[in-house]
Amino acid sequence: MTHTPHPTGYAGHLLPRGEKDPSRRALLAAPLALGVLSACDRFATAQPAPPPVAPLRSIAPFPIGSAVMSGQFDDPAWVALAREQVSQLTPEWEMKMEYILQSPGRMTFDAPDRIAAVCAAEGVRLHGHALIWYSQGEQAFAGLEGRAFAAAFDRYIAEVAGRYRGKVISWDVVNEPIAEDGNGLRDHHWSRALGADGYMIRAFEQAKAADPDAILFLNDYNLENNPVKGATFLRTVERLLKAGAPIGGLGTQSHLDIEIPAGQITAFMRELGAFGLPVHVSELDASLRRERRGDFRSRPQRLEQQQARVVELAEAFMALPAAQRFAFTAWGLRDSDSWLRRDDKDDGKDQPLLFDDAGRAKPLTAAVAGVFGRG
Ligand code: XIL
Repeated sequence: MTHTPHPTGYAGHLLPRGEKDPSRRALLAAPLALGVLSACDRFATAQPAPPPVAPLRSIAPFPIGSAVMSGQFDDPAWVALAREQVSQLTPEWEMKMEYILQSPGRMTFDAPDRIAAVCAAEGVRLHGHALIWYSQGEQAFAGLEGRAFAAAFDRYIAEVAGRYRGKVISWDVVNEPIAEDGNGLRDHHWSRALGADGYMIRAFEQAKAADPDAILFLNDYNLENNPVKGATFLRTVERLLKAGAPIGGLGTQSHLDIEIPAGQITAFMRELGAFGLPVHVSELDASLRRERRGDFRSRPQRLEQQQARVVELAEAFMALPAAQRFAFTAWGLRDSDSWLRRDDKDDGKDQPLLFDDAGRAKPLTAAVAGVFGRG
């Protein structure tokens, strides 16, 4: 599965051209203007006034994160919302192998370097994503076998994790190792060359050598939605830990299916927490769309389902011991930032994230804030 690269906007400039060293006021003033315009729009479309919600990063007793693409640093409204709401960022695409190895024979770091620099300047944590992923790298490693393949694998991790040593707090070292249906592990170029567990153990060992201080995560999706996949993930963690893999954290992406039964999320989070490792809700979104045909739910019904599942996830995360609550990350800030809104199946009306297209809080935001505010 390859993914369409997304425009990253400027490369190499921390802030929009012409901004020498803008005060926060300058940047924040821009969204104010945008805010006024959107307010007119708001009245024009008679949207219900959003509930007043204190910034999530100031309410939650753990970091609140968001996915980011470097081009979003050129959007003052995005910058203002991010500064207000989050204390951790995850590169959505530009720290992945597909971006870094986009030009044969060389590594491209302009956008991830910019993200790292902005995180350092803004004092927010940077979560690296992702070193080894089944869906990328096959072409770049084509033609390599045996020791040459292994050497290139090790070199890639050493180069990338080494470059961001001291800049990232953590890495998704291996992303999405479990088979789509949850029965066993995925089969791909990494596993065929280095072994089903072997490539994962090697990746964690190489990442540890390159950045001994980073928290190293195993990350996957549909773990709450599909109990079979969740159980396979837990068994895989157990097996890798027993084999000595330096796994330091566990990531559940939480691209939630809002139609799953109540309690499924809670049950999985409890089992995930039982390893005693930091847990990262790493890519939360909760689509209102149903992939399956014949969706007769009203919008209020879908919003109610969405809030129930996202609140359950927030509560399950809050129930973890404080030391294990690594971060609660949404896969984007505003609904319009969501990868789901770039999907050709999208009708432009999906509302999968915590803030609306204009960056305003929603009833969902208030509900999540209510959970995090319980301290
Ligand atoms: C997605 C990004 O959101 C898209 O912009 C990109 O085109 C493809 O990848 N699980 C992951 C993320 O771990 O890296 C994926 O992000 C979403 C699913």
